This record gives sequence, C-alpha cells and structure tokens, in this order.
Amino acid sequence: MKRAIITGVTGQDGSYLAELLLKKGYEVYGIIRRSSSFNTSRIDHLYQDPHNQPKLRLIYGDLTDGGNLSSVLNDTQPDEVYNLAAQSHVRVSFDQPIYTANTDALGTLRLLEALRMMKKPPRFYQASSSEMYGKVVETPQTERTPFCPRSPYACAKVYSHWQTVNYREAYGLFACNGILFNHESPRRGETFVTRKITRAATRIKEGLQDKLYLGNLEAKRDWGYAGDYVEAMQLMLQQDKPDDYVIATGQTYSVRQFLDEVFGYLDLDWHNYVVIDPKYFRPTEVDLLQGDASKARKVLGWKPTVDFKQLARMMTDADRNIARNERLVKEHNK
Ligand code: NAP
Ligand code: GDD
Repeated sequence: MKRAIITGVTGQDGSYLAELLLKKGYEVYGIIRRSSSFNTSRIDHLYQDPHNQPKLRLIYGDLTDGGNLSSVLNDTQPDEVYNLAAQSHVRVSFDQPIYTANTDALGTLRLLEALRMMKKPPRFYQASSSEMYGKVVETPQTERTPFCPRSPYACAKVYSHWQTVNYREAYGLFACNGILFNHESPRRGETFVTRKITRAATRIKEGLQDKLYLGNLEAKRDWGYAGDYVEAMQLMLQQDKPDDYVIATGQTYSVRQFLDEVFGYLDLDWHNYVVIDPKYFRPTEVDLLQGDASKARKVLGWKPTVDFKQLARMMTDADRNIARNERLVKEHNK
C-alpha cells in the first residue's frame, strides 16, 4: 500500500486528491493548520467513518514551520508528497506579500530541504500555477512558455517552481511541477470569481440577496474541473521520470461569459444585479490564460472530462441547493 502526504488537504484540491488517493487504496495523511474555528468541512466525509475507522489521518503542520515539516515526514515516511498548501488568493497576495512569499515560496523550500535530508526521499508534487505566465508572451501557453509573473502570489509560485526543478536536477529528487490552469468545483473557495458568481446568482434566484459586486469582467481564464485536475497530479508521480506538465482544457472564456452562462441557466439577466466595485480590481491583472496540455495528453494519457458549460451548471446546481435550504430555514424561523 502506498502512503501519501497532502499539504493543503483542507482546501479544494486537497479534498479531491485525498478522495482519489483513498479510492486508489493509498494510506493518506493530511497536514492541517490549527484554526480557531473548524476548517475541515471539505474533508469531514473522509475521516468520519461510520465504523470509526480513520481513513484519512490528519496531522497539525504549517509550511512556515520547517522543523514541524521535517518531523512529520520522518514520522510517516511517505512514498509521495503533494504540496498543495498555499495562500492561494491572487488579490490577497497584494495585501499580504510577505506572508504569501513565506508560505508559497519559502514553504516549498522548507519542504524540499526536509525531503532532501531523508534517507529515501519520497516523490514530490508541487502545485505550480498558470498565474506564473502573467503578462503572457504567447497563446496558448505550454511548458516552454516563459513566465512573466504579475502578482506577489505568482512571483512566489515561480520561485517554488524553479526550486522544484533545481532539487530535481541537483539532488536527483523525483520532483514534478503541475502547471495547473484555473480549476473550479462546488468546493471552490467562495471568494474566487466562479464560486462568488454561482453563489450570488443562486441566492438572488432564491430571493436572499439583490446585488453582486465584482471587479474586472474582461479577464479570460481557462477554467476546468478540479476533480479532473487532481487525477493529473497523481499520474505525474507514477511516471518513470519526473517532469513538469501543463494541465488545462485549452478553452478560454471571460468572467462576463461565465456570468452569461450562470445567470442565463437561472433565467436571470445579470445586468440587473451586477455592480462593478473597483475594490476588486488588481494593481496588475492577468488578462488572458489559455493552456496547451498536449504533453499531458500524450505522456500521462490525461484529458479533461468537464467543459465550461457543464462546470458552470454543476456549480450552479450545487449552490442552488445550498441557497434553497438557506431560504427554507429562514422561512421556518420567521
Ligand atoms: P485553497 O482551496 O485555497 O487551499 C489552500 C490550502 O492551503 C488550504 O488547505 C489551506 O488551509 C492551506 N494553507 C494555507 N496556508 C498554509 C500554511 N501556511 N501552511 C499549511 N497549509 C496552508 O487552494 P486550492 O484551489 O485547493 O489550490 C491548491 C494549490 O494549487 C494551491 O497551492 C494553489 O496555489 C494551487 N493552484 C490552484 C489553482 C486553482 O485554480 N485552484 C490553479 C493553479 C494552482 P486552510 O483551509 O486552513 O486555509
Ligand atoms: N476573486 C475575484 N473576485 N476575481 C474577480 C472578481 C471578484 O470579485 N471580479 C473579477 N474578477 C477577476 C479577477 O480580476 C481575475 O482576472 C479573474 O476574475 C479570476 O480571479 P480568481 O477567481 O480570483 O482567480 P485567479 O485567476 O486570480 O487565481 C486562481 O487561479 C490561479 C491559476 O491561474 C487561483 O486559484 C490561484 O491560486 C491559481 O494559481
């Protein structure tokens, strides 16, 4: 049985990856941060087994604490480590650049150093990002497209990307970068634009709110489904040789088109509800992302199974259920 550690297990991708690895028969350890409130809602179904058998084991840890990472690795001796933990919000990285660098850049280095010290270093996956292409120099973007980062978050991810390549080349670690383009799901954090839209649109439909405040509607993203993307992460670590891969759908759509899709599906006209609030503009924006995942298709045999329309509808259906329940509770309490 393989043993894996996932950092960032409480996040969107961590929860889908834990599910996938457990399904494949792995023993899975997740690193979680101490929080003053519960932060395990995305993974509760994975460790609250009806027979009280812990399926997913959780260990406290933090990417800002190198000693802790070392002891977790030495105690568990995993075969694979997936580094998904990050301050992952691009807008927030402009407000908290140093914290973001500490976690997203130095955090990866702490992990790589801890791995390097091990007698038998596990295979390592680094969550790189299409955000690194920033002010893109070509479209579509491939593994060979130069990076041009436009945010503190992207700069930190570029640092981690190159450290991962360096540890692979200098110390022979089996270390891979997955350059993942935006991927979403019903478990997406509520402040990322897709989820913010599906949540607000369904609450508007249920009469629970009447406005949606957004920033730049013209930005274009290559949006895929998180459940598909975690499969690519696992596949990367099963290859004969470590390498870096772009994971994307190859299609790009604007925020405006996402609004059309979601509000249209709910028979609403978003123009009646959306208000532009400059607070959501970024000091520097990434205007267009569109990935070319040919290498992953060829080498990993990976391809996306959910397209833009299906993704928008899947997220809208899930949020409609939540909004409907919220309305019923509200009516019941009147
Ligand atoms: P997410 O939902 O924001 O999850 C981030 C996870 O990191 C959470 O579990 C969070 O814990 C944890 N975390 C944050 N700071 C930490 C720290 N200092 N130490 C330990 N854990 C920490 O992000 P996601 O969408 O699942 O993305 C997963 C990874 O892929 C991230 O590295 C992200 O930057 C990268 N990525 C995402 C996308 C995308 O479109 N989703 C695309 C490319 C790359 P809490 O739950 O306690 O906050
Ligand atoms: N979050 C947010 N909120 N974004 C908005 C809003 C708003 O109210 N209004 C417009 N946008 C625009 C942003 O300016 C950006 O151009 C686009 O919507 C997407 O924003 P996000 O959903 O926050 O995602 P992101 O592309 O900045 O970053 C995500 O994808 C990266 C991969 O390219 C995150 O998941 C990163 O962690 C990830 O690396």
